[in-house]
Amino acid sequence: MAKHGIAILGAGMIGAAHASGYRTYLPRFVGRIDGLSLATICDENESLARALVANYGFAKVSGDWRSVLDDPEIGIVSVALPNFLHLEVVSAALERGKHVICEKPLALNAADARTLSRKAQASKGCSATVFNYRRIPAVAAIRELIAAGEIGAPNQLLVQFQCDYAADPDLPYSWRYARARAGAGALLDIGAHAIDMARFLVGEVAEVAGAMASISIKQRHLALGATKGHDRVALSAETRPVENDDFVSALLRFENGCQGLFCASRVAVGFGNTLSFTVAGTKGQLKAPPRYLSGSERLE
Ligand SMILES: NC(=O)c1ccc[n+]([C@@H]2O[C@H](COP(=O)([O-])OP(=O)(O)OC[C@H]3O[C@@H](n4cnc5c(N)ncnc54)[C@H](O)[C@@H]3O)[C@@H](O)[C@H]2O)c1
Repeated sequence: MAKHGIAILGAGMIGAAHASGYRTYLPRFVGRIDGLSLATICDENESLARALVANYGFAKVSGDWRSVLDDPEIGIVSVALPNFLHLEVVSAALERGKHVICEKPLALNAADARTLSRKAQASKGCSATVFNYRRIPAVAAIRELIAAGEIGAPNQLLVQFQCDYAADPDLPYSWRYARARAGAGALLDIGAHAIDMARFLVGEVAEVAGAMASISIKQRHLALGATKGHDRVALSAETRPVENDDFVSALLRFENGCQGLFCASRVAVGFGNTLSFTVAGTKGQLKAPPRYLSGSERLE
């Protein structure tokens, strides 16, 4: 019988969301997929993995992702580790024939992402990355309306992801602010979702006509202990420079001729976690206004 034990690598902010998702949806698939089970949660900070195992009913804790991938009981792997580990960990999982879902951004740069894409295509498993905002039913409906010609030919798109998760200078330095560990800053962390949304709605980008990126909080204090997501923790007096963008904007041209304006910020005070877009066409426009995609505002 095929082994489809589920493992989550990384028990930080988003590893917890994966655990909750598997726990919620497992009953739908039991009996349809052989050997499906909530198997292992792995984090080098084993106390985080232990807490998720207890909360979501997984069987085992691990501190070593390599041994998890070598376990023949594991068939499905969620990679919820910091960005710099995605290339190595996903490559190893694909080589072992696992089904892999890897958090965005897939890699630190386009060349590494292409390498993973090629390995995924050559692997016998299924693989995906996490562009979760596409899965909002209203967004899928808007895409269908655009494809059906309801707004005519799309000619202008505005997409923005405004967040304030890093606006407080007293939040700790973490892997997110180091270029070698995160790659770009707001561009990859949240801009990746906005760019994916634009591609989902109007197609591929043909040209980036101009772009700017800025760092507004230049130094951050080291944490005294471990960091998790954007959580507040006790700080050391020692600081490190922030090496990647706090906000970024760009002018885009899509293959279908549509012109696009994109921006992403992690220091947009007062915005919370706000992805929004407007697509205008020759016959009308569709929009998901600020707060809609992360809150309850009515679709216009
Ligand atoms: N899809 C989304 O909306 C979304 C939202 C947040 C984060 N993410 C992505 O999820 C990934 C993780 O982000 P996060 O916010 O959960 O980070 P995090 O810092 O909260 O968690 C990362 C965890 O990985 C663990 N870790 C680090 N190195 C390890 C190693 N060698 N072996 C085992 N564990 C190790 C850390 O101890 C930490 O608990 C990132 O790629 C991020 O971009 C996606």
